[in-house]
Amino acid sequence: MAQLWGGRFTKETDKLVYNFNASIDFDKKFYKQDIEGSIAHVVMLEKQGILTNEEKDKIVKGLTGIRHDIESGKLEITEEYEDIHSFVEANLIERIGEAGKKLHTGRSRNDQVALDMKLYTRSELIEVDGLIKELLGTLLGIMEDNIDTYMPGFTHLQKAQPITLAHHIGAYFEMFKRDRLRLKDIYQRMNYSPLGAGALAGTTYPLDRYYTASLLGFEGPTLNSMDSVSDRDYVIEFLSAMSIIMMHLSRFCEEIILWNSNEYRFVEIDDSYATGSSIMPQKKNPDIAELIRGKTGRVYGALVSILTTMKGIPLAYNKDMQEDKELTFDAIDTVKGCLALFNGMISTIKFNKPIMEKSAMAGFTNATDAADYLVGKGVAFRDAHEIIGRLVLYCIDKNCSIDELTIDELKTISEVFEQDLFEKISLKTCVEKRLTVGAPGPEAMRKVIMLEKEYLENDKINVVETY
Ligand code: ARG
Repeated sequence: MAQLWGGRFTKETDKLVYNFNASIDFDKKFYKQDIEGSIAHVVMLEKQGILTNEEKDKIVKGLTGIRHDIESGKLEITEEYEDIHSFVEANLIERIGEAGKKLHTGRSRNDQVALDMKLYTRSELIEVDGLIKELLGTLLGIMEDNIDTYMPGFTHLQKAQPITLAHHIGAYFEMFKRDRLRLKDIYQRMNYSPLGAGALAGTTYPLDRYYTASLLGFEGPTLNSMDSVSDRDYVIEFLSAMSIIMMHLSRFCEEIILWNSNEYRFVEIDDSYATGSSIMPQKKNPDIAELIRGKTGRVYGALVSILTTMKGIPLAYNKDMQEDKELTFDAIDTVKGCLALFNGMISTIKFNKPIMEKSAMAGFTNATDAADYLVGKGVAFRDAHEIIGRLVLYCIDKNCSIDELTIDELKTISEVFEQDLFEKISLKTCVEKRLTVGAPGPEAMRKVIMLEKEYLENDKINVVETY
């Protein structure tokens, strides 16, 4: 048990208290960010004449060495220290002696941890964004290949109107595109540096906070030191955005699970993304889709947890805030894993196009178009709706579709029907005529695909490389 703050204490910390308080088990995850922040801090301290050039060089060299040794496995982050900040500082002092004791000049663990968490969240946010971008590329490919793949569109999980696979996948493209926009928005709002806020009230040392902010790729410093050390809004925002990403993935997974069922058989999940049953030899289960759907709850849980943790915290730093880490880290890893796996699953899935098309023809998906046909012949829409309703009932009774009726049968329902009905309500016409912006008609779809392509090529989060 090695502590940085032993001076004021006369007794050893109780072992249980020590373990309860310690965070090294999880904050070791951002050792890299901790070192990166410390380097920026000492470079600034030297520029401001608070440290000598020699001291700065020694500290930077020591910190870089620690980072290398952790990465090569030579230095293990052990639980004998309370947190990653203490671990790095103690190691530095061990390596370089007296100069190491000056690292923490004008800094508190409160602004340090606020910085580490922000740097970590920021780089993970960029990774999540990259994974969504990859998924969007996959989805766009499927869209381009399936402009003419007919399938039923559903409302209330009942066949409604015919659409295409490109159109269906395009809906998810829009969702994930919004997810990226949300991430970009969060990035811009969070990208201010808390370093230099001290424990809560800044410091009397002449720190240059603008300088450390720019060294670390931030827009500038945060403007209130109390807020700087106690703001976790960006964690909440990131968890909200990730919850929405998971909600989108989960909806998509739900559809894949349905489409993969024996009843639908719209898709066949590749063997490499499916699992078998230990007892039923015929089974090929969509476990990955189910797990992604299931893990959504875990990410929502992290969001609700931090919202609840933060709601009663008075200004400024309170130890409750240490609870911002574990579930957030878990949520980030979960979302990254789910995005990568989902991308793999959807890019290898086989779409059973003939089955989809056959399904689109059944279930009276052309009933609206049949009503529109009557409207074209001068019948008021409300009357047309009524006539087609009766026609559907007649077909249900006969167990056939509208296009399977003869013209004589049709005329018993309404005299207005002519031979041209069959062409007007064919699957091809029903889809091709839907040409409003955002509709499934191939011409409309092609235009949208072009726009989505441009978006994918040009839009990118402004990634600022640090160190
Ligand atoms: N482990 C702490 C956290 O995660 C670091 C900050 C400690 N600050 C303090 N005043 N005890 O929040």
